[in-house]
Amino acid sequence: MTIMPGFGLMVDTHFPTMIRPIMQQVLLTLFQQPEHAATTLRERVCNTLRRAIHSGALPLGQRLPSSRLLAADLQVSRVTAEAAYRQLEAEGYLQRRVGQGTFVAIRINKPLPVRKMAGQLRLSQRGEAILHTGGCRDPLQPLPFAAGSPDLRAFPLKLWQQLTAQQLRLRGEALLRYGDPQGYLPLREAIAGYVGQTRGVQCTAQQVIVLTSSQQALQLIATLLLDQGDNVWMEEPGYLGARNAFISAGANLIPVNVDEAGLQPSSTLPAPRLMYLTPAHHYPTGVALSLERRVTLLEIARREQSWIIEDDYDSEFHYDGQPMPAMQSQDRHGNVLYLGTFSKTLFPSLRLAYLIVPAERAAAFTTARTLYDGHSAQLMQAVTAEFIQQGHFAAHIRYMRQLYRSRRDGLLLQVEQRLKAFATAQPASGGLQLAVWLPPGQEARLTRQAQQLGVITPGLAAQYMTPQARRDGWLLGFSALTPGEISAAVEQLSKITSG
Ligand SMILES: Cc1ncc(COP(=O)(O)O)c(C=O)c1O
Repeated sequence: MTIMPGFGLMVDTHFPTMIRPIMQQVLLTLFQQPEHAATTLRERVCNTLRRAIHSGALPLGQRLPSSRLLAADLQVSRVTAEAAYRQLEAEGYLQRRVGQGTFVAIRINKPLPVRKMAGQLRLSQRGEAILHTGGCRDPLQPLPFAAGSPDLRAFPLKLWQQLTAQQLRLRGEALLRYGDPQGYLPLREAIAGYVGQTRGVQCTAQQVIVLTSSQQALQLIATLLLDQGDNVWMEEPGYLGARNAFISAGANLIPVNVDEAGLQPSSTLPAPRLMYLTPAHHYPTGVALSLERRVTLLEIARREQSWIIEDDYDSEFHYDGQPMPAMQSQDRHGNVLYLGTFSKTLFPSLRLAYLIVPAERAAAFTTARTLYDGHSAQLMQAVTAEFIQQGHFAAHIRYMRQLYRSRRDGLLLQVEQRLKAFATAQPASGGLQLAVWLPPGQEARLTRQAQQLGVITPGLAAQYMTPQARRDGWLLGFSALTPGEISAAVEQLSKITSG
């Protein structure tokens, strides 16, 4: 061994003099990278060598410096360098031959550049179908007039915070474990009690499945109940999230006209395997499904052995009298799947919704759910259960309903008074948004103008499946806006020039 003054290196004379400085530099550079920092110096040396082997800098058969040289190069003790070599020998990265030295014992193929791979990999046909739906990715910002957001400024955060602390104190680590895939039992009991009292839904906790969202429920239903080509009756216009879920399952979607009495069944339509309905307030127009139509649709479902999804997404917010009881309460043959969400009544990021299914089907839905995500977050389920059981949920909804009713009244009046040059409101007895019809062919232009004035006006035309059926309009979300914010936004819209 000699000292080479030019490099300041100790050189192992058995080592080719060209490789040695390069290797030393590579190892030193890797050793100094912060991501290789570890709890011990020995582990840091190990990380350095593993990385050098994985990156191909140290190929199969490459001889490494002696532990004494390595220690000097990396400025660690010889004991540390020796321990690192022993560790990597045990892991199979290195081989130590008595009298010969330490060698790389493994060949790691370098990964191909990611870009090339991504271009070659294809999606499944199902994946392509999903991609083409574009998803349902409304950002739901609480800006005027983004649709469907609750007013989170009015949410009782302090109380929620206290209940969260209380649940953690009382149940502690039990809430951190894996939970029941069907849902936390006290929450299922609370939901069964709540929908029974307020919506007439007939069920026990055994029929309730707690999910992360209505969207997850729709996807679960599509996967579990629909085969390729099955007919699905969709409200026209209708909810894009549901449409996308059924498209992803390869279903044959049949748009069915909605009039003042809701979805209008007709004997000329092919029999459905499933019907998607929003009976309390049709999404997006807000009309209620009449009693007569409900009876007819339940009869069709019985006769054709079809499922009905009753998406009761915002019936809590009914402002003129009581909403009609849920269709599920009139179902005598187990055709109805009842769907509710806490996204509107509590807050969207809670990610809790519920699906109520016939008792004989609860096991199938629960099993299918385990393939998705196991279960919903236990802590939030426990807090929500407590919030309902202590009566805070009912009180919160009463309060919010009043708040939203006055906002709906305010917006309706202002649209009628100030936007009558181009907009006609569709009065609805509930909901978090107001549908407004626009002159034919004007939606795109008026939306652009609104945008320039700083107002978001979600369009109605895109909610239709058939181009001929399309009506131009806006769906103005009012629930998250104070009266002042509503007035200011209408003031902006009133500057729009008609046609
Ligand atoms: C008809 C309808 N169903 C369900 C939902 C959403 O529920 P979730 O957030 O639980 O998916 C919405 C939200 O806008 C909706 O309009």
